[in-house]
Amino acid sequence: MTVNLSAMDLLLATRNQHKTREFVQLLGPNFTLRDLTNERDLPEILETGRTFEENAVIKATAISKIFPHEMVIADDSGLEVGALEGAPGIFSARYAGENASDRRNVEKLLRELQGAPERSARFGCIIALAKDGELIATVAGEVGGTIAESSRGKNGFGYDPIFVPKGFEETFAELPSDTKNAISHRAKAVSELVRYFNTAHRSE
Ligand code: IMP
Repeated sequence: MTVNLSAMDLLLATRNQHKTREFVQLLGPNFTLRDLTNERDLPEILETGRTFEENAVIKATAISKIFPHEMVIADDSGLEVGALEGAPGIFSARYAGENASDRRNVEKLLRELQGAPERSARFGCIIALAKDGELIATVAGEVGGTIAESSRGKNGFGYDPIFVPKGFEETFAELPSDTKNAISHRAKAVSELVRYFNTAHRSE
């Protein structure tokens, strides 16, 4: 049974405004989302996991210890390229070095793939849900596609200008955000999360 949804408060463990914007659009009006942008003096949380799942769990549980009784979600996501044996993967944000810009990461990836005929790739996303330091659930989403020969488009963030989702000719950065949000790895994971809330645990 689906219960009536009054807006539910969620704390998103990120300072990445692009991610927050996508989450707000994907979750819709039944959720009130706040991120860490205005939170000062937080300890650095080291993403020492070997998988998206481990890193999402590390972030969600660590942040939920700092904000008692709040429902915390953390997204760990990235791009896996077939010809690069899954790289950049969990290192997507820092592929061209610590604090590298999106542009530098994209340039490095295009260099690595120069002339490569096999350009398949996938975006993966794991969202971990935690409260008071305890992991409650994880959900996952992925989208397959290919890496373009050059950067195209201005929407989105990260590797969006070089990722062409399966079934399209445009990159994520050329497609309207509504289209990305209908098919993306994050969209699929968020839809699993909403399903989770709507079934078992919405009334807790
Ligand atoms: P995280 O914040 O540690 O999860 O790092 C995620 C990184 O993966 C981002 O900085 C991007 O480089 C990449 N990434 C994840 N999701 C997307 C997306 O939807 N579009 C483009 N790049 C993404």
